[in-house]
Amino acid sequence: MKFKHEIVEKNVGLLAIFTVIAISFGGVAEIVPLIFQQETTQPVDGLKPYTALQMEGRDVYIREGCANCHSQMIRPFRAETERYGHYSVAGEHVWEHPFLWGSKRTGPDLARVGGRYSDDWHRVHLIDPRAVVPESNMPGFPWLEDNELDGKYTAEKLKLFRDKFGVPYGSDEEIEKDAESVKGKTEMDAIIAYLQVLGTALK
Ligand code: HEC
Repeated sequence: MKFKHEIVEKNVGLLAIFTVIAISFGGVAEIVPLIFQQETTQPVDGLKPYTALQMEGRDVYIREGCANCHSQMIRPFRAETERYGHYSVAGEHVWEHPFLWGSKRTGPDLARVGGRYSDDWHRVHLIDPRAVVPESNMPGFPWLEDNELDGKYTAEKLKLFRDKFGVPYGSDEEIEKDAESVKGKTEMDAIIAYLQVLGTALK
């Protein structure tokens, strides 16, 4: 009886099989509850769907590859919460398709950058980062100031998020009215509107 465990320890094949079984149980116990827990599937109180302008800004953020240098995921570690604020929670990201958590931090995390700076600061910083942060190695994105939005696909994007992903946008008319408001705005206006809302839902 005493030596039964030895049989498993001395047989690599058997050890591998039992290891996989043990890990599977652990995995199921950790993952399955997440699928059913309200906390991980429901939006946090106060979360609002992106407005048309913010949605356009988010697309500029994706196109310009901001996520290659910036994460949007504050981990629950003291060093991070002291610097960036409350750690990120799942309910803040339930309407993100795709989410932009990222995994590279050449620059700071942006999950809670909303409201940290003025719109003017962002404008100057995005045109020429070194104008406000002399040691910055972030590239400038001056063309955002010149590119105007025509709003051609804006309404379609919002409708797609509503119909495919269940994001609670209103009627077609409400969406089209909101989409209309982006016309003539610049990509700079849009990305600033997007940055300013990041992480502001969680009180
Ligand atoms: C090559 C890497 C790189 C890319 C690409 C990049 N950034 Fe940055 N970003 C940085 C670095 C480094 C800093 C820190 C220095 C500074 O503030 O300029 C920074 C800082 C920032 C800050 C200030 C954050 C804070 O808390 O102080 C914002 C906002 C920002 N970036 C937005 C953007 C946006 C929007 C884009 C895409 C249009 C972008 N960045 C693309 C590297 C990058």
